[in-house]
Parts: sequence; C-alpha cells; structure tokens
Amino acid sequence: MSGPAPVGVLVPAAGLGVRLGPGRPKALRELAGEPLLLHAVRGLRAARSVGPIVVAAPLDEVGPVRALLADLDVLVVAGGAVRQDSVRLALTELPAAVGLVLVHDAARCLTPVAVVEAVVAALRAGADAVVPVLPVADTVKQVAGAHVVATLDRAALRAVQTPQGFRRGVLEQAHASGRLALTDDAGLVEALGVEVTTVPGADEAFKITRPLDLLLAEALLAATCPGVDGGRRAR
Ligand code: CTP
Ligand code: MG
Repeated sequence: MSGPAPVGVLVPAAGLGVRLGPGRPKALRELAGEPLLLHAVRGLRAARSVGPIVVAAPLDEVGPVRALLADLDVLVVAGGAVRQDSVRLALTELPAAVGLVLVHDAARCLTPVAVVEAVVAALRAGADAVVPVLPVADTVKQVAGAHVVATLDRAALRAVQTPQGFRRGVLEQAHASGRLALTDDAGLVEALGVEVTTVPGADEAFKITRPLDLLLAEALLAATCPGVDGGRRAR
C-alpha cells in the first residue's frame, strides 16, 4: 500500500503557561483528568496523514513527557526559552525523509482532525505555507497608550490558529533567518517573501491561554463526548 508521504508534526509544548496561573507547565495541566499534551498528541495521531511527531517538552519535564506519550510513537526533545527556540530544536530532530511539516501548539489541544487534514491538503496541492484562520468577531482598534489611533477593517482581518503547515525547506530557511518571530512561524515565512495560504480553522481549535479557556475546554469535551476524552475525533 503506498499513499502520499506522511507529514511530520512539531509540537511546541515547552511553555510555562504563565497566563494560566500557578501550577505545572501548561502542557501538563489537566483537562478532563488528562494532561493537555496527551489530548493534543492523540488528536494528531488520529489524523491519517500524520507520520513522525516531535514534541518539545519543558526542560525539567522531558522524562515525564516521554513516559506520558510512550504509546503514541513520538520523539520528545527539550524545548527552549521561547516558542521559536522550541520549534527550531524540534525541527532538527525531524527525520530527513519528511518533506512537509506542521507546527502545532500543544495548547490547541482540541483541534479537530479536519483542520489538520485541511492544512495538509493545501500543502499537498502545492502551497509553500498554510495557516488555518477564522473571521474576527470583535471590532479591533489600534491604540497608542490609552488612545485609539485607528479602527481596523474587520472584514480584512483573520485570527490565526495552528497547525500551520510548511514545505520543510521553507520552514528551515525561516528559522535559519535569525529573525525574531512575533508570535507564529508563518510570520517568519512571510518575512522571507513566501506566500502564505489560508484554510478555514475551527472554533474548537482555540488556544488554552487563560483559566477561562480551561473551563471552556472542559465544557466542550463534556458536550461532545460525555464521560470520555476524544469524542471530537469520532465526528
Ligand atoms: N511554547 C514552547 N516553548 C516556549 C514557549 C511556548 O514550546 N519556550 C509553546 C507552549 O507550550 C504552547 C505554544 O508554544 O503550546 C503556544 O504558546 P503559549 O500559548 O504562549 O503558551 P505558554 O508560553 O506556555 O503560555 P504563557 O505565554 O502564558 O506563559
Ligand atoms: Mg507564551
């Protein structure tokens, strides 16, 4: 049986989760009784196109993360001081044969498989870089200090999620460029002048950032799959 080559996934999971409040690093905080990272990697493993997965774990948690993910066939490396470092460190461990790469935040742990596959499909259709996006619900204003400078045209704005997908060479070049990423990998790629394509994201792919997000995620899991994790993958 030979299908298209599997896609590699880098999972930055080394952040502390400062905005979530005191406790273990965010990837190891529990959601419905299991660490966020376990939900995230299980979700990725449920996507047919996904092959090798490299997780960047918090420096002090490499052993526990390896144990946590032992059944899911992943490589675990120590992450870095900022997200960009964690992605770069994980990228160096990706098997050489992998030509298409996704970068997926552990904190977006309920991302539906359909979003993963939509990003992969756009890459396989020839895109160099792909991001899942949603329309922006709030009005967004630019400010200087406490003063409004401008009201941005919401129709032209999108909120960006992960997984973000890249031709491997493009991502490697972006991370070798020495630029500082503002918040995402696609931003580095844009700075190289490479076109970034969008596909529809999903509300469920929201990032767990603050305590309220954890409550929302618990509610989402309970609603989609009472009693067990992972109902999202059966839909
Ligand atoms: N991340 C990482 N290495 C870092 C910082 C962040 O791998 N040095 C990862 C996080 O683990 C998370 C993703 O990047 O999966 C998105 O980052 P964010 O949501 O900001 O998570 P944290 O940095 O952990 O949270 P905070 O900024 O509130 O501390
Ligand atoms: Mg952070």
